[in-house]
Amino acid sequence: MQKFYIETVGCQMNVLDSELVHSGLVQSGLVPATNHDNADVILFNTCSIRQHAENKIYSALGRLKHWKIIKPYGVLGVIGCMAQKDQKTIFQRAPHVDLVLGPGQLELLPETVHQLLEEKLQRNYVSQEIEIESGKKLLVSLKRQEHRHAEVIGSFRLFNPVRNPEARDNRFQAMVRIMFGCDKFCTYCVVPSVRGPEQSRQPQEILNEIQTLVRQGVVEITLIGQTVNSYRYKNGEKTTLLADLLYQVSDIEGIQRICFVTNYPRGMNDDLLQAVRDLPKVAKHLHVPVQSGSDTVLRRMKRNYTATEYRELVDRIYSTIPNVSMTCDFIVGFCGETDEEFRKTVELVQYCRFKNSFIFKYSERPGTKSAELYPDDVPESVKKIRNNVLLEIQDKISLEQNQQFIGKTVEILVEGISKQLETGEVQLSGRTSCDRIVVFNAPDNRLISQFLKLKIYDAAPFTLFAQQSEIVRIIRNRDS
Ligand code: 5AD
Ligand code: SF4
Repeated sequence: MQKFYIETVGCQMNVLDSELVHSGLVQSGLVPATNHDNADVILFNTCSIRQHAENKIYSALGRLKHWKIIKPYGVLGVIGCMAQKDQKTIFQRAPHVDLVLGPGQLELLPETVHQLLEEKLQRNYVSQEIEIESGKKLLVSLKRQEHRHAEVIGSFRLFNPVRNPEARDNRFQAMVRIMFGCDKFCTYCVVPSVRGPEQSRQPQEILNEIQTLVRQGVVEITLIGQTVNSYRYKNGEKTTLLADLLYQVSDIEGIQRICFVTNYPRGMNDDLLQAVRDLPKVAKHLHVPVQSGSDTVLRRMKRNYTATEYRELVDRIYSTIPNVSMTCDFIVGFCGETDEEFRKTVELVQYCRFKNSFIFKYSERPGTKSAELYPDDVPESVKKIRNNVLLEIQDKISLEQNQQFIGKTVEILVEGISKQLETGEVQLSGRTSCDRIVVFNAPDNRLISQFLKLKIYDAAPFTLFAQQSEIVRIIRNRDS
């Protein structure tokens, strides 16, 4: 039996793609390996969002040269965003790679891997040698700048194989992609070119997939899309938007919690906010990246809103949805960002009171508008300082927010073991509907996948601490 191993970096899109690829490969007759050394096929599912992520992949690929020497018949593949972005360059930088396959071609992955395995075995029988150059495959989608929209859409194949529960971290939580690609073209971002044009999936197909997942034991669903709130499916006169889909998913018996990421600020309309407020199963947490608090920076990023509009949105979210939490993404040190512009971001963070923020230093990406239009002129040292300043402010807010939970009872879905304790007990961790992490001690792991009520006795910026004696087990019904 030939075995495969998938290494995944990057965002939730990649985690989901790896799960689907895992399922596709198992259905094609391969079996999962536990590590590189006992694998015949190694796939790197890669990320291009920042240079740092790419550098790490190229070094990891370099380290696999010796694997290729030991296993000349093995297949080393690069999939994901870097495959679509770098294409032939990957073979030049890592000549021992056999396969480069973009995110729009995953449907073809199992058969391509089998072809390569077979070709390599044949070659080995004949000459006992591998001819690295001839046994290679490059499968990518068309470039958006070079082809018509309809042709490009057609070249990003949608891949939705039957899902294998073993391919996920656990059986009770699953992601479901509701849309592919992105049409926003923020100037710093590679996603629209590597993930292709926005395409929303048919609602019934999404609902069927969720029903199958429920039969596999899933209770929490995360709907994902690069700009998930841009979801729009038109069928004749009828248009389904994300808010409509939330109602439909809520009606599925067995689903207990529904999350969705990532949101684009401009699409946060009242219907969506009201759906989040009114549907008990929908998590009271919204991730809405703002990227910067300065209007001039936002304009250079082509984000299509002002800082004031974003603040108004935050006000609207807090006043519509009781007890909601918000999280955010920021890029610091974007091209030309002055101290004054950065100060506006600091003010915005102080105003918005996010639960937590993901802060990134700007990384110039070849082929993007910002790389073409503006020099990457903020020194690395300044980016670092701004990153730390923002983190420190955010951490203080996160702690203040979490401290408000001390003495309160919260409801969590227990997700897994966070620590094995010396006493023989385990520390379990779970999340609230507003995405706060709660840890507590328990005798064993039997509470994993259960909803529990727990009383909080202490708080850190990213964690709430609860006491085991306070556990109240709850059984959820359809609408509670
Ligand atoms: N440099 C730094 N951060 C980036 N992001 C996207 N592109 C870049 C880039 N070129 C960040 C944004 C986005 C998150 C997923 O990654 O904040 O929301
Ligand atoms: Fe990138 Fe902007 Fe699309 Fe998000 S909305 S994926 S940042 S282009």
